[in-house]
Amino acid sequence: MHIKFDHSKGYLSSTISQYQEVVDVAHEALHAKTGKGNDYLGWLDWPVNYDKGEFNNILNFAQQVRENAEVLVVCGIGGSYLGARAAIEMINGLYPKNQVEIMYLGNTLSSTYIVQALDYLRNKKFFVNVISKSGQTTETAMAFRLLKQLLKEKHNEDYKDYIIATTDAIDGTLRAEVKDVGYRSFSIPKDIGGRFSVTTAVGLFPMAVAGINITNVMSGALLAMEELDNPDLSVNPAYQYAVARRIMEKQGKSVEMLVSYEFQMTMIAEWWKQLFGESEGKDGKGILPASVNFSTDLHSMGQFVQEGTKNLFETLMIIEEPAEDLIFPHTEDDLDNMNYLSGKSLDYVNTQARLGTLAAHYEEGGVPVLQVSIPDTSAYTFGYLTYFFFKAIAMTSYLIDVNPFNQPGVEVYKRNMFKLLGKE
Ligand code: PA5
Repeated sequence: MHIKFDHSKGYLSSTISQYQEVVDVAHEALHAKTGKGNDYLGWLDWPVNYDKGEFNNILNFAQQVRENAEVLVVCGIGGSYLGARAAIEMINGLYPKNQVEIMYLGNTLSSTYIVQALDYLRNKKFFVNVISKSGQTTETAMAFRLLKQLLKEKHNEDYKDYIIATTDAIDGTLRAEVKDVGYRSFSIPKDIGGRFSVTTAVGLFPMAVAGINITNVMSGALLAMEELDNPDLSVNPAYQYAVARRIMEKQGKSVEMLVSYEFQMTMIAEWWKQLFGESEGKDGKGILPASVNFSTDLHSMGQFVQEGTKNLFETLMIIEEPAEDLIFPHTEDDLDNMNYLSGKSLDYVNTQARLGTLAAHYEEGGVPVLQVSIPDTSAYTFGYLTYFFFKAIAMTSYLIDVNPFNQPGVEVYKRNMFKLLGKE
């Protein structure tokens, strides 16, 4: 298995294998497409079924943008934004060399953020990838109109050459605009919901512009599809994780904290929070997904985890091979008393911090820790990891009879907001 799951520090009160029968039933419902939300299962076979023609267009358009742009603005929100950013940060890191800069808009209504971002873009050569399945999302549509205005100021009627739209193949406001104006465009499959769409054009185009090998992303997703197809709990780490979460819940744990020791995984956690929160949190059920970066957040959240309310468990993402490392230098004067670390690598120190924290939280604090071992931060592993989480959330939701593929609760704030804004 490319990714391993370890529940030995989970204080599990029942064994994972006791769930085999219910897992078999849920697996059958998922794969026979007879379970809840079965019209949104396009992601299940996507690593083999994806449109190869469109994939080549993504590669070609991305290359054109890479040759002509200083900045690509990804204009989208939720499932139409988080996956691309998670991939770009995990794979390229936070200070990538010689890449087109990727900026994000359409993901907020903050006037200050929007105005400052537009000002920043004014003297840059930029392209816009507007991403919206419905084409009607307020945050995205507002930012897109402002971006078009800026592009028109710079390029007059040629402004449309700087826009790539990713939206529903047939329906929606944005698709209608694509037909009307003639932007280049990609399609979001009808049967893949936003938070399951990272390996469609939604995520792949921005990734390709950021210089990521998207062929490797799809190969990783394909391996995950094959390896995680087996319902046997003794060999399927995604299902082991799905079951362990349910056991945690039975033990009174209502919060799952996804932990990383790598800043470049911060947006993976944000993406995961949407995937897990929006999929599972309904009908009065679900575990609240939260996230922290250690050791950074040990200096802010560590106290609570160690000694606060015992309502949480950790899911620890371990990156086995960091992308970069450095040997800590020796100094003659040792004024900072740090020579005890001379000759050790930064990752060695980070690993000892992780092991020390694990012992503190698990052994002394009584906090259960589930562990997900991830080989590296490559494009291939990203493809695998996202599919791993898809499979896990589908299974864990079916185990509590929740439809993981809709989000009816999100509409409530929109109704109120539209009423206040006077939208028909
Ligand atoms: O997962 C989802 O369905 C949501 O997060 C959507 O992706 C998000 O609301 C954006 O929607 P749209 O792509 O229609 O603009």
